[in-house]
Amino acid sequence: MWYFFSPNIIYGEDALDFFENIPGKKCFIVTDKNLEDLGYVKILTDKLDKFGKSYAIFSEVKPDPHEEDIIKGKEKCIEYGPDLIIGLGGGSVMDTAKGIWPLYEYPNYGVDDFHPFNMDLYNLGNKAKMIAIPTTSGTGAEATWAVVISRLEKDVWIKLEQAHKGLVPTYSIVDPIFPTGMPKSLTADTGFDALAHSLEGIVSVWRNEFSDAMLLKAIELIFKYLPIACKDPSNQEARDYMHQAATMAGLGFGNSQAHLGHAMGHSWGAVFHTPHGKSVGVFLPYITQYCLNNPEENDVTIPILSKLAKQLGWAKWEDDDKKSAMIVVEKVKALQKEVDLPTKLADVGVSREDLEKNMDLLISLCFQSACTTMSPRSPNKDTYIKLFTCAYEGKDIDF
Ligand SMILES: [Fe+2]
Repeated sequence: MWYFFSPNIIYGEDALDFFENIPGKKCFIVTDKNLEDLGYVKILTDKLDKFGKSYAIFSEVKPDPHEEDIIKGKEKCIEYGPDLIIGLGGGSVMDTAKGIWPLYEYPNYGVDDFHPFNMDLYNLGNKAKMIAIPTTSGTGAEATWAVVISRLEKDVWIKLEQAHKGLVPTYSIVDPIFPTGMPKSLTADTGFDALAHSLEGIVSVWRNEFSDAMLLKAIELIFKYLPIACKDPSNQEARDYMHQAATMAGLGFGNSQAHLGHAMGHSWGAVFHTPHGKSVGVFLPYITQYCLNNPEENDVTIPILSKLAKQLGWAKWEDDDKKSAMIVVEKVKALQKEVDLPTKLADVGVSREDLEKNMDLLISLCFQSACTTMSPRSPNKDTYIKLFTCAYEGKDIDF
């Protein structure tokens, strides 16, 4: 037995109009101040007004949501008593909303109760349905079972990667009206998050036929439309397809899991607060090369990425597998340059001294990440040091 969990997905222009069909009258909107100021919350509340739904707004979400913010949101949510919880925003907002939801349904729970073995969480939705509306095209949180929460432990911010299949939102409304205003750098960062989900998820140890289908299409769309969305932010076709691609990638990796790029990206983000998409985007070619160098006879990365290169027309079907698979790395590097994403960690504003000072902590956080266990090739401590160092210096992985 395997599984593929998915929300009900409504996508494309005017997807917000689907609110007319969603039962429920009282909406608890989780969002952030920036989105309120940009007028995005008003776009949503105008629709809710149109369809006769009332609402309360919780706009205190900050980047890398802290456990305390989720608890605060839970209290406000219980006070209001909604039958719909709406997360309108990027990954931090949607994770906060997904965290508030189970705490509203089970007020005695804390975030440590969000784990795959908690059977109660399969029954979410008795008090409220959960609706995720992404405003960026990358995180995939609108389609996944995961909630990333920051917690301060012994003066170090750690990122808890909580997950349960019951936390998959009831509905995802993927309306391209929201990402259209994203600036180029955010478009590139979030687009690379979606690409990292796709290229990690397609070789992860939990990969499966359903996730493969989603991830293949997501990769095709991202390579085609991310450069267009970055060059011409108002290009509606590119925005719409990038928004769909991010949700497809979310569906895919949500059911297969990300691996080393996300273990290292979460670790890096926890220590240096580099935006998530930028972190995992920089790591992507390095961890892919590392997996392609796997000396194990039963390695899966080369055949999978070789097939991918051939399916996308980057190599001929008769071409050598290793050579074809390496084209994927070259394509990722070329895309980084095309959208002005940093190609090495030295370019994200962290000094070598800070890297070396924090190396033990970075590696310890990688080993605490569930993503480490999802990799087709497992690094030890020395290998992680070499991976961080090469990614910092921009050196190819030859081990
Ligand atoms: Fe991610």
